[in-house]
Amino acid sequence: MNRLPVPTDEELRQTLSATMMPHDLDQALPLIHEINELKKEKNAVILGHNYMTPDVYHGVSDYVGDSLGLARLSAETEADIILFNGVHFMAETAKVLNPQRKVLIADLEAGCSLAESITRKDVQELKKKFPGVPVVTYVNCSAEVKAETDICCTSANALNVIESLPDDTIIFLPDAYLAKNMQKQTSKRLIAWEKGKCMVHELYSGDDVRDMRRQFPDLVVISHPECDTDVTEASDFAGSTSQMEDFIRNSEQQNIMLLTECSMGDNLRHKFPDRHFISTCHTCPHMKKITLSKVRDALLKEQFEIHLSDEIIEKARKSVERMIAIG
Ligand code: 13P
Ligand code: SF4
Repeated sequence: MNRLPVPTDEELRQTLSATMMPHDLDQALPLIHEINELKKEKNAVILGHNYMTPDVYHGVSDYVGDSLGLARLSAETEADIILFNGVHFMAETAKVLNPQRKVLIADLEAGCSLAESITRKDVQELKKKFPGVPVVTYVNCSAEVKAETDICCTSANALNVIESLPDDTIIFLPDAYLAKNMQKQTSKRLIAWEKGKCMVHELYSGDDVRDMRRQFPDLVVISHPECDTDVTEASDFAGSTSQMEDFIRNSEQQNIMLLTECSMGDNLRHKFPDRHFISTCHTCPHMKKITLSKVRDALLKEQFEIHLSDEIIEKARKSVERMIAIG
């Protein structure tokens, strides 16, 4: 992943005018300048998830990507401060992988319905119920849950991680729909956590896809595997947020329907101006807690720092590093 250059005002106006009102853009530009100056002053790196709003994504990010790509980057960076513009479990993963750095998140309330669906105790109880069965957890969970895990995965590498294990039965947590999608692709038995759903992707149905296909017969449909199998099976492609982008880059299709978080479509519209994106998006209220003014305050006041105990870092790091080694 290459470091993004600091955009000029002209570039920002061109990019952001498609998704921002002129008045909002005038207010955003000075904040973007201030953040980019603070970054230099404090030797900070800003990592931006693909679901950040265009002002945060294009204006102040040094690197953008999916949760796997950003986790890899956070392990490698030598910056004094990592400001993670994404949700809490992503910032925790950065701390686990690079505990010497000061890791910040602009709003501690930026959570995730999947991460909130399961606790460390729940995993301990599952392990007692299924002794000897390995635990794979999707990175969308707390560091405490990762500490109880044999190996983590993201939606970009879940199948590789499952297939890398010698066992025939695997406890796969906490996303019930990702588990269902993976069960369709593996002969191993996956024991899922039925309470775990992404509050954004669970809103889609296969009928959304079929209705749109009737209106636009040449539509190419791309979904996230946090959607139910009814949706992913009606799609042409399902993958992580960066895999969605790669799929578009490698295809010639003009009419694209994205079944994922709203800002993904806004950010891709800028990257692929010749394509036509059909939007039926839903917003993640957690991702949307990260705003430019909170990002500025986070750098200025060096808040809100992620703190984890040595025990959790040590245990969680094993499961995340094992995943990263698989690729
Ligand atoms: P990605 O790993 O695809 O970026 O997804 C993270 C996420 O939270 C999607 O809802
Ligand atoms: Fe969690 Fe879903 Fe939001 Fe991603 S989109 S952070 S999985 S609630």
